[in-house]
Amino acid sequence: MTGPAYPVSRPRRLRRTAALRRLASQVSVDPTDLVLPVFVKEGIEAPVPIESMPGVVQHTRESARKAVAEAAQAGVGGVILFGIPAVKDARGSAADDPDGIVQRALGDAVAEVGESIVVMADLCLDEYTDHGHCGLLTASGDVDNDATLERYAAIAIAQASAGAQVVGPSGMMDGQVAAIRDALDSNGFSDVAIMAYSAKYASSFYGPFRDAAECAPQFGDRASYQQDPARAAAEAVEEARLDVAEGADIVMIKPAIGYLDVVRAVRESVGVPVAAYNVSGEYSMLEAAAANGWIDRDRAIREMVISIKRAGADIVLTYWATELAARLR
Ligand code: PBG
Repeated sequence: MTGPAYPVSRPRRLRRTAALRRLASQVSVDPTDLVLPVFVKEGIEAPVPIESMPGVVQHTRESARKAVAEAAQAGVGGVILFGIPAVKDARGSAADDPDGIVQRALGDAVAEVGESIVVMADLCLDEYTDHGHCGLLTASGDVDNDATLERYAAIAIAQASAGAQVVGPSGMMDGQVAAIRDALDSNGFSDVAIMAYSAKYASSFYGPFRDAAECAPQFGDRASYQQDPARAAAEAVEEARLDVAEGADIVMIKPAIGYLDVVRAVRESVGVPVAAYNVSGEYSMLEAAAANGWIDRDRAIREMVISIKRAGADIVLTYWATELAARLR
């Protein structure tokens, strides 16, 4: 007789060899589930490294185009573009300027990859306003919800005109999905989809992104429009349902890692695909630990993304999208 001299439990039996573990695995990451965020900045001659996000850069138009082509080559599902304009003002004028940086970069991306992967645009004002808030401000410095919706509608049309196949409103204004759906439909873009950042928490884990997109609020914070991490997942479910009722095609939860319960709850409550944003702080934290030799980088990345999928995300936005997709092929 070979084999162990003790009774092996059922769960353990399927862990014995790599082949058994592969056979029994229930969650996988497909390259096409991944979306790469791309930062493109106006008026720079060469890519600018983002210190707090080692390996991520602010792209020139040319290097953004290359990054999009590489992502497509690696088999990712899509890219989402963030623009950083040379000039910012109170109303974020560059956001819906047909010659604005993100519109130009969208045109470049579509010229490069067509419809072979999904080309998306983040739809918000914080990268474009000089005050760094996600909307227009009232005289007293509060975000003016309804005036902001008019800006979002104009941005949606500009992004769709530039070739965006999906727009991703990330400002957490009430009624933003309905306003954008209406604007798209009445301007001949009823085929452009909306990926709503439905459950977006006021999180410290966006810190490095604010370096990347140069959009830290110049006063105050986003706590009056983004969600409180101390609220239960039911609030996120309500937000997601509202967005679906307003016309969202995909709902998103953000950040991902600390909010896996929210991902699960939303997945069980809506019929549309659920995306989760593996945000900048999650990226930087892991990269910093890896750079110090404190963690096995490749395994940790895989584990992080698998965990997000296991929680129920259909789509994962991650700065590792291209690398991971290439590794998975
Ligand atoms: C807002 C926006 C933010 C992120 C994506 N869209 C920043 C914020 O709300 O402050 C954060 C993404 C990340 O941290 O990776 N346009």
